[in-house]
Amino acid sequence: VKQPLEINQLQFSLAHTLLLDAPAYLNTTDSHGISRDANVLDYCRRNHITIQCYSPFQYGVFEGTFIGNPDYAQLNAVLTRLAKKYDTTENGIAVAWLLRHTANMQVVVGTTNASRIPGIVKGAEITLTREEWYELYAAAGNKLP
Ligand SMILES: NC(=O)c1ccc[n+]([C@@H]2O[C@H](COP(=O)([O-])OP(=O)(O)OC[C@H]3O[C@@H](n4cnc5c(N)ncnc54)[C@H](OP(=O)(O)O)[C@@H]3O)[C@@H](O)[C@H]2O)c1
Repeated sequence: VKQPLEINQLQFSLAHTLLLDAPAYLNTTDSHGISRDANVLDYCRRNHITIQCYSPFQYGVFEGTFIGNPDYAQLNAVLTRLAKKYDTTENGIAVAWLLRHTANMQVVVGTTNASRIPGIVKGAEITLTREEWYELYAAAGNKLP
């Protein structure tokens, strides 16, 4: 197209991190080290295209939410601890994690429950520490180099 592309919506959440896994697994034989998306994150950053994260609370391809899901017990334990620390909800911390990435992304939430909105909005005002960001990434089941 001739029009400049300003937005790219990509699935990105704590439990769906394909967008940034490959560099973390660089130089290992782990299959996560294979980039399956033609490095779209880097492409967007180089070309000033804002990434909008869709399905910020989902895992897999619309299989369900990881928040409160016993299959993500370790992740939820960290989400709950940080939610208390920052006076928000687990949803809020999940949003803060996405927004902490230096690509300056936007988050598209799909909740139909108005009571979740204040926590989500608070999440946009929170700056997680680097240690917290990586703790959440690891608690979601990822390995750290
Ligand atoms: N460009 C694309 O290809 C593409 C693809 C998919 C989606 N999208 C856009 O992105 C938007 C968001 O996607 P999404 O709806 O998948 O995002 P989402 O915000 O990750 O998921 C919303 C779902 O998660 C549930 N949920 C959230 N927090 C929860 C919690 N703490 N406990 C239990 N359930 C919880 C919500 O239930 P409640 O309603 O009860 O909160 C709702 O069913 C869509 O509306 C669409 O506009 C774009």
